[in-house]
Amino acid sequence: MNEQHENENQAPERILIAVDGPAASGKGTIARALARRFKRPHMDTGMLYRAVALNLWRWGGDMGNEFEALRACDVAAVDPDDPELRSEAVSTIASRISAYPSVRTALLDRQRQFAGQPGGAVLDGRDIGTVIAPEADAKLFVTASAEVRAQRRVRELLERGLPAHYDDVLTDIRARDERDTTRAVSPLAQAEDADRLDTSELDIDQAIAEAIRMVEQRLAAD
Ligand code: CDP
Repeated sequence: MNEQHENENQAPERILIAVDGPAASGKGTIARALARRFKRPHMDTGMLYRAVALNLWRWGGDMGNEFEALRACDVAAVDPDDPELRSEAVSTIASRISAYPSVRTALLDRQRQFAGQPGGAVLDGRDIGTVIAPEADAKLFVTASAEVRAQRRVRELLERGLPAHYDDVLTDIRARDERDTTRAVSPLAQAEDADRLDTSELDIDQAIAEAIRMVEQRLAAD
């Protein structure tokens, strides 16, 4: 049995958890739940790409131009509570500009520093287990069928009072999957040492319970 306890005189044990997966797979909710369970700070790295997208959109910049996207990388200037960060327009721009190598590089240090905190952290995104924190103690690859993810996204949009049509959302999710998995730099991919969690048939409580079980198993194996 592990007799080490965390106390004031002892640095907390590092628990670094990487959660990756495609759009609307449930990775954000799972990552937040893991952060609460293991008492570690959480970073939603998609928000960084969304912040760049929002900057670019507000300036009227061209998302097809890498240099303009790079100039929009001052993410500290964006209010994290800005509701526009979650809008569909911003999601689409984020998905495009995240393929630019210079944009990814500009956001790298911020993510690596967060992951490098002595006690560890929970980060969710697309390339956490592969690029940002390959040294993570536990890695989850959260996924679900495109159809289930589209249904979830429609429900989420309607709950927020936004218009949503299933066929359009499904088309958009497939296009986003294609861009995320085929881009040259840091494509969405399951790390070799990641546990795959398919949430297609699970409700959110079941998915969280399974995620906690997978992480605990990895931590116990270390
Ligand atoms: O879950 P959803 O795809 O709606 O959004 P998100 O996780 O907030 O990510 C927004 C966009 O940023 C996605 O379309 C990804 O392509 C991109 N992203 C990325 O390239 N790398 C990350 N580590 C996180 C997000």
